[in-house]
Amino acid sequence: MFDLIIRNATLADDRTGMDVACRDGRIVAVERAIEAEAGETIDADGCLLSPPFVDPHFHMDATLSLGTPRMNVSGTLLEGIALWGELKTIQTVEEIAERALKYCELAAAMGIGAIRSHVDVCDDTLKGVEALLHVRREVAPYIELQLVAFPQDGVLRDPTAKQNLIRALDMGVDIVGGIPHFERTMEQGAESVRLLCEIAAERGLMVDMHCDESDDPHSRHIETLAFETERLGLQGRVAGSHLTSMHSMDNYYVSKLIALMAEADIRVIPNPLINIMLQGRHDSYPKRRGQTRVRELRDAGLAVGFGSDCVKDPWYSLGRADMLDVAFMGLHVGQLSSRADMAWCFDAVTRNSAQIMGLEGYGIEPGCRADMVLLQASDRIEAIRLRAHRLAVIRAGRVISRSRPAEATMNLSGQEKTLRF
Ligand code: FE2
Repeated sequence: MFDLIIRNATLADDRTGMDVACRDGRIVAVERAIEAEAGETIDADGCLLSPPFVDPHFHMDATLSLGTPRMNVSGTLLEGIALWGELKTIQTVEEIAERALKYCELAAAMGIGAIRSHVDVCDDTLKGVEALLHVRREVAPYIELQLVAFPQDGVLRDPTAKQNLIRALDMGVDIVGGIPHFERTMEQGAESVRLLCEIAAERGLMVDMHCDESDDPHSRHIETLAFETERLGLQGRVAGSHLTSMHSMDNYYVSKLIALMAEADIRVIPNPLINIMLQGRHDSYPKRRGQTRVRELRDAGLAVGFGSDCVKDPWYSLGRADMLDVAFMGLHVGQLSSRADMAWCFDAVTRNSAQIMGLEGYGIEPGCRADMVLLQASDRIEAIRLRAHRLAVIRAGRVISRSRPAEATMNLSGQEKTLRF
């Protein structure tokens, strides 16, 4: 007797007609036509059953704050940072937690099972840290939340950022963040990378830096990050988020850089929605896209996972916790249009990001956690094409969210007909 069986599902590796049986929060069998009873049975009707979406880059202390205290008029990263500086002095722990919890519920209903969120530590009160540590405990049954200590104003540029970052780690924040391109000079940026990687190495933590998030072709912090990763033996534990400067770098230099990144096993987290919106703002025409070199990094063997970064905050007015929107944009901006490339974009918001976050028991195999999302789509490409409806979200073998199929009832000539999207 199982707790749950999902019958006749298509899996992300394109196997069709599969039954998935769950017991005690784990997947115990993935086979065709399992002959057993279960407390609950779901007929997938050939639809795609995937492990949960994973968002490896988010800012939960800012989410859903759009318009508070004002809008970002220029639309630039720098005005966003200035606006955030105004907001963080006036918001309370309770307000941050309330918005974050609201977002996590929305994210769970949209099939997201894990989020890595940066939390700003450039605030002596550490309100965001206090709020998100509380939220991490609250949402643990349905969202695995990793927190990154993020010195938004620069760990060297802001006089108390380093001590606040250490305090945040002591309070239980998981990962060391940074923003070298926002330090005062290129040298200070490199120094911040060295300092932050040493803190991570001493504490046995992972690193995830906002790195070279600009259109400056001469920004070189990812080179330093790869160097420090190797020097300190942090291979496989360091992520470079954004890396938009790589879009504008000299091709010869990049051919050397990507090999160095691969040697250091750097994890790559582009954020397509936000960077297509923010980058190239100082260009006339042609305007650069500002997405890092996704195809080349992937083909060099680096783990690449797309993040959403922002939803309704000082940097981005839109968003709805839809990782398929993120994959859709990443696919277009990166011109990843072959069948294999499009299917890979689905992996970039699921298993690649799970690998980057180091999630335990992720996947649809016996022994994995019984965490899944049933999508109204026949395969990974259709899921992206339709930004497919989440028919059911399953956590620890229990359905925590359901929605009716997306359909329209049409009547063109006196006869009703149902169209499914
Ligand atoms: Fe970010």
